Amino acid sequence: ADGTLEIPVHVNVLYNKTAENVSNAQIQSQIDVLNEDFGGYNPDYSDIPAIFQDAASGDIKIRFVWSQENTTRKKTNKRSWRTNDDIKKSSRGGIDPTNCSTTLNIWVGVLSNNILGYAQFPGGNCATDGVVIHTNAFGRGNYALFSSFNKGRTATHEVGHYFNLRHIWGDATCGNDFVADTPTHNTSNGGCPTFPHYSTCSGTPVEMTMNYMDYTNDACMYMFTSGQAARMQATYTTGGPRASLR
Ligand code: ARG
Ligand code: ZN
Ligand code: CA
Repeated sequence: ADGTLEIPVHVNVLYNKTAENVSNAQIQSQIDVLNEDFGGYNPDYSDIPAIFQDAASGDIKIRFVWSQENTTRKKTNKRSWRTNDDIKKSSRGGIDPTNCSTTLNIWVGVLSNNILGYAQFPGGNCATDGVVIHTNAFGRGNYALFSSFNKGRTATHEVGHYFNLRHIWGDATCGNDFVADTPTHNTSNGGCPTFPHYSTCSGTPVEMTMNYMDYTNDACMYMFTSGQAARMQATYTTGGPRASLR
């Protein structure tokens, strides 16, 4: 009624070793992170620098709804998965999505080549729609997580792509992310940059390295902007490529 999108989530867990069969508590921790980050009530929201506070999104009004019955688990002989979407296909040893037009499907599995996750943009094939997260970057807490990617922000970043957000550097030198209130970045930033980090792009703006759509560590990313929120919300308005979510 207040315009909040309540999006059902289905989690598909692929495991080879028993330890990779993530617990319901680990899944819940990831759902909590998504709700905090998209709701603008993540504990580190208050770390947003003063110069970016006007641009900060606040509550984006997307709520993620999951309970443990919305989970499919499968033991597999494969020790890792590539980004070719086999993980999403039962015919390739993966798991087919559940209700792909109305539900956000998340696949959890070990990904090859240290890939943390990947996403499908709006407008693609329903049968492969959703996001894929490396087992060791999925959730928050005392699990077997990668040390710099242990706060569940890989899923926040990938769900940003799922709702049509581009990388903040526009995947090019001083590239365009089609969002007016994010500064132009030279390229991706990694690790945990010292503030302020200046761009050498036109106008030499301070880069928003703490944006979820950069490549910094989980502990060093904690905001979307209002422009990013509007771009995401546009996907599920009438006529938008994700209107079937409403
Ligand atoms: N490399 C991945 C992508 O481009 C995910 C990056 C996630 N970053 C993070 N701090 N968790 O989609
Ligand atoms: Zn990305
Ligand atoms: Ca921009």
